[in-house]
Amino acid sequence: MNIKRSRIAYLRKVLSKYNDLYYKEGISAVSDYDYDSLMKELEDLEEEFGENSLFRNQESGSPSVAVGSDLDENFKKVRHRKRMLSISNSYSKDDLRDFDIRIKKILTDQSDKDIEYCVEFKIDGIAVSLVYGKGNLVYAATRGDGETGDDITQNILGLNIPFSADNAIDFEVRGEIFISKQDFLRMNEEREKEGLDPMANPRNAAAGSVKLLDNLSARKRPLKFVSYYYDGDGSRPKQSENIDLLKNMGFPVAENYFLCSNIEEVIAVCDKWESEKESLDYEIDGLVVKINDIALRDIIGETSKSPRWAIAYKFKPQQAQTRLLKVDFQVGRTGAITPVAHLEPVKLSGSVVRRATLHNYDEIRSKDIRVGDYVFIEKAGEIIPKITGVNLSMRTDGAEVLKMIRSCPACSQKLMKQDSEAVLRCVNSSCPAQLERQILHFVSKGAMNIENIGPRMVSGLISSNLVSSLSDIYFITKQDIMSVERMGEKSTGKILSSIEKSKTRSLEFLIFGLGIRHVGIEASIALAKKFKSMDDLLRAGYEELLDIRDLGEVTTQSLKNYFSIDKNIQLIENLKSAGLNMLYTSGNSKNNSLVEGYTFVVTGTFKDILRNEIVEYIQQNGGKVSSSVGASTNFLICGSNPGSKLDKAEKSGIKILYENDLFRLIKNPDLS
Ligand code: IVH
Repeated sequence: MNIKRSRIAYLRKVLSKYNDLYYKEGISAVSDYDYDSLMKELEDLEEEFGENSLFRNQESGSPSVAVGSDLDENFKKVRHRKRMLSISNSYSKDDLRDFDIRIKKILTDQSDKDIEYCVEFKIDGIAVSLVYGKGNLVYAATRGDGETGDDITQNILGLNIPFSADNAIDFEVRGEIFISKQDFLRMNEEREKEGLDPMANPRNAAAGSVKLLDNLSARKRPLKFVSYYYDGDGSRPKQSENIDLLKNMGFPVAENYFLCSNIEEVIAVCDKWESEKESLDYEIDGLVVKINDIALRDIIGETSKSPRWAIAYKFKPQQAQTRLLKVDFQVGRTGAITPVAHLEPVKLSGSVVRRATLHNYDEIRSKDIRVGDYVFIEKAGEIIPKITGVNLSMRTDGAEVLKMIRSCPACSQKLMKQDSEAVLRCVNSSCPAQLERQILHFVSKGAMNIENIGPRMVSGLISSNLVSSLSDIYFITKQDIMSVERMGEKSTGKILSSIEKSKTRSLEFLIFGLGIRHVGIEASIALAKKFKSMDDLLRAGYEELLDIRDLGEVTTQSLKNYFSIDKNIQLIENLKSAGLNMLYTSGNSKNNSLVEGYTFVVTGTFKDILRNEIVEYIQQNGGKVSSSVGASTNFLICGSNPGSKLDKAEKSGIKILYENDLFRLIKNPDLS
């Protein structure tokens, strides 16, 4: 009994961890299949203790009852009109037949009749709800935890959707935001040119894009939308009719849905697409099978996580077997050493695979992967596949146990493990491999935006000792450039003028360009805005840094560490003497951009602020406050005991800001 209880606790813990990794970091730590098996085990065990409410109720927060959450504190929250659920998965034909039997049991009067299903592609992206009021888009939100989502409206204004409908009606459309395979490859090519790490797969790229804090960059990402849900005025009784309706309204829908008059037809469709999925220009990880008759859905109902009237048929991940030829170790910008597996070329999901990722040495050891082994590789949406295991029956005596290197392959410095990390790092800040990556990051578009300096040029400048630190870039000459790469006068001139121009970049780009661990562009913007100058940033204390909303402890510690190293301070001094701007020059708008020009209604009582203070703040920042919710209201600011204004606002699809959102708005206006 106790063993089972501790297994429940264990499963809840690991599954929650997997959820966090997946929804917050975009990492699939296990295959969907393994995840679902663990979840099934947890559900069965919880069922066994079903009498005991301690083990199975909403408050337990068990991953078996809660939809995984991708909520992000940087976004305003919106409450969904209806919960956004996930779908339970199935992997075999028998699972689908069982599903059909379950449905017929619930619908007793249908038990001897066939059920009509609507089968749709399950596009691997992220679920989004679009809410329209009087025909106009009011907001777009992610699924979040199912009840509440993140308002991502500002990031999807470039999407292929109608922003206003022909009739002035209220409705909601749900669907998937995704990036096509072709756009994904193009995007990664661009990223590589810009010195950025490539994205792992189209789904991560889409998820990362809708959550970018920089709205303009987000709008430039090649995001696409496909709709599969319509709710509102004019809803039709059948799923298939609603899809047709969406299409007529100008919403993109997946090129096909398949109406099946019984479960065997569903199976045939699943079979067909499992083998033909590569012909599509977007990733599908399965098909979604839905009861077509919407009235029946209400009878069948839903669990806390997913509807009982739908099931996803997931494709088995594509696997191949090939030989591991060698493993080499790459040094990243921050010195992290990553093993890269070189494989005998093999075809998998329509492309030839030569390399695979191995996250760290522990992974090689735990899977007992040896050079010369035949390994299984799997691709679940990723461009670079994973090694999932070894075919031990084919192991030969010659298979070589891999020794972890002790010193850096580029500079021979002894490698170290830091904190509780599994990765080994080269901590030599003059390591040429790191320097090369650092420079490529420094010159990239998102940082100092120095054009036409690519990997070949950088490695040439380093190996001919022309550059041994970031600041040396500002001292290279025409001759230096020409000695490294054969180049015309014109191109050389372009590089030099781009270097010169970069000196005027605003402070946030310089902070980002320094490549301090954990300090991404968002944190850099927050730092530059708060301190306005590099000098003030250098003087900031730990507490003062921690006080910034976008910074956590890890980032703060990392900044403090960076600034405590003399060499880094020297680098900043050198950049200063090279003539670089050290001030924040981007934001010169006075008013809070989210308040200016908008009309607010304030309702309820607030914990940490007086209603008058809110009203004053809005007025001072160029916004209007009105006493009742009406056609011109843009936001309702809602405290506790809100009363009828909240109902009215919700019905009209007006954006609602709660107390927490308000502080975010006040403290950090431009990042909203
Ligand atoms: S229906 C209540 N239809 O798959 C049903 N979902 O694992 C929930 N998805 O959260 C949505 N294609 O992100 C539905 N044709 C489709 C879909 C689809 C992809 C995603 C969606 C959902 C997830 C469920």
